[in-house]
Amino acid sequence: MSAGAPTVREILQKSADFLADRGVDSPALSAQLMLGKALRLTRLDLLLQSDRPLTEAELAAARELVRRRGRGEPAAYILGEKEFYGLAFSVTPACLIPRPETEHIVEEAEARFPRDAALAFADLGTGSGCLAVTLAVRFPQARGLAVDRSPGALAVARDNAARHGVGERLSLVQGDFADLAGLGVAQGSLDLVAANPPYVSEAEYADVSPEVRNFEPRGALTPGPTGLEAIAALAPGAHAALKPGGLLLLEMGMTQAAAVRGILEQAGFAEVRIRKDLAGRDRVAVARA
Ligand SMILES: C[S@@+](CC[C@H](N)C(=O)[O-])C[C@H]1O[C@@H](n2cnc3c(N)ncnc32)[C@H](O)[C@@H]1O
Repeated sequence: MSAGAPTVREILQKSADFLADRGVDSPALSAQLMLGKALRLTRLDLLLQSDRPLTEAELAAARELVRRRGRGEPAAYILGEKEFYGLAFSVTPACLIPRPETEHIVEEAEARFPRDAALAFADLGTGSGCLAVTLAVRFPQARGLAVDRSPGALAVARDNAARHGVGERLSLVQGDFADLAGLGVAQGSLDLVAANPPYVSEAEYADVSPEVRNFEPRGALTPGPTGLEAIAALAPGAHAALKPGGLLLLEMGMTQAAAVRGILEQAGFAEVRIRKDLAGRDRVAVARA
């Protein structure tokens, strides 16, 4: 290491400036996350060690991560991890990065079922497994089926199920969530169906940020021209699979409440209620079979 090796503080500042120039959101936070990953330090450790000089190898590692972030790659893919409902989930570009608004589904489930309920549930379009795994963690007697058509996403979900010790209570199945009967789910067998299906219309997809469009799997975001195709496809099967009175918790787009209500009522659901997210936008349909 040379006498003039840059310190943690200097590299954090340079990285934040570089990321700000490239229009990355929260550049200072991103710089801390990238440097923390390169040095295997927490953000607190970075602060405590701000005068520590970096070795050549550390500097090279940090530069590479900051460059990736500067090209718009989401921090979660670079770190390989994202927090959801207080749990750390592995993520890869094969799966959607879990979003905070999806946590409302778990909150609703917790508000409606006791913790010791021996729930039979399904998670349709499981992606990283964030919903299925979190439900299995929060309801220790529950057993669930997690469905996705993407083998890459299912591999991530399997990893996360093992990571949180719920693999034995989750069945991870590759297939079409519109065909639950074909996947062996008996009619009237489930207490709960949770789903965050793709719901972005093709027109909206053209406007999503490059960070999303260039890096997250398109098939996890948009199901077709209207954005309602996947919800319409899964609703009848979800209704048939639920016990009478069973609960559907379904994430949807903020402009889709009326259309989703219509789809769910047509599939036989009753008491359709729309729950808003923290930003006050319609986000989760809650319906009884
Ligand atoms: C919006 S992502 C949700 C992922 C995860 N549940 C979450 O909340 O972060 C939708 C997921 O549904 C899957 N998917 C889309 N259409 C499907 C279908 N017809 N059958 C099964 N999975 C599907 C995608 O591969 C993707 O993983």
